[in-house]
Amino acid sequence: MRLQGKTFIITGAAGGMGSVTVKRFLEEGANVVGSDLHVSSLQEQLENFLPVQGDLTKEADVAFLVKKTYETFGKIDGLVNIAGVAQKLTPIEELTLSDWDRMMSINATTLFLTNQAVVPYLKKQQGVIVNVASISAVRPRPGLSAYIASKGAAVSFSQALAIELADDQVRVNVIHPGPSDTKMLGQFVGDSTEHEKVKDDVFKNSVPLGELIQPIDIANAAVYLCSEEARMVTGAVLHVDGGRGL
Ligand SMILES: NC(=O)c1ccc[n+]([C@@H]2O[C@H](COP(=O)([O-])OP(=O)(O)OC[C@H]3O[C@@H](n4cnc5c(N)ncnc54)[C@H](O)[C@@H]3O)[C@@H](O)[C@H]2O)c1
Repeated sequence: MRLQGKTFIITGAAGGMGSVTVKRFLEEGANVVGSDLHVSSLQEQLENFLPVQGDLTKEADVAFLVKKTYETFGKIDGLVNIAGVAQKLTPIEELTLSDWDRMMSINATTLFLTNQAVVPYLKKQQGVIVNVASISAVRPRPGLSAYIASKGAAVSFSQALAIELADDQVRVNVIHPGPSDTKMLGQFVGDSTEHEKVKDDVFKNSVPLGELIQPIDIANAAVYLCSEEARMVTGAVLHVDGGRGL
């Protein structure tokens, strides 16, 4: 029970990594508010779980999420930002401004909105933020420029906050997942009918440890970073990537 009695907001809660992270945090004794665009799959959870539907690119939805969390559990100890979108492989010449804006909005601007909204609560709790970025920010692939730029922004923003909030004992860290076994992996490939083959040929083979990362690997890393065990860890970027970044 490493998170006993603590209250966390977890975004992307209906997704591959998010749903498993919600479960892990509940197992560790946390109260969890799970945020996603669609939360119907999340209704059947335990009593210390609250699903909140919302679009995190919208300031009003973020404000509602934070208000609902505080009203329900009376405090906020942490935020784990997992929501995100993939870019379909697109050469730079074909990338549109709207593609770019969508990546930046969902993968970077949502971090600004959510992190900013919880900071006043975290300052009271010596709280913690984990923002999920991507190993592609340091080990890029061709055709993913907007996605990679948005994840680079996530790292710089998180580290900027880590130093800004250190005096308040609020920790801010990043997880870089490697290629992970969720529906998002297929979205990077686009419309290919050979998803399973591409998953193996491109993604699995790019991981030195020889396997795709599983959502539980990310969830366990998030538990660690949010626990007392990581009390002196801030501004760090934890690679959970089977060595893909090497
Ligand atoms: N899967 C991978 O290979 C991989 C690799 C590196 C990094 N990541 C990152 O890990 C995170 C989780 O990815 P996943 O594989 O679980 O993907 P996923 O697609 O299974 O889950 C992402 C979730 O984010 C939600 N979401 C998207 N836009 C939102 C918005 N505007 N408001 C609220 N919720 C929104 C989606 O509804 C979805 O449930 C993402 O940030 C992703 O970029 C994934």
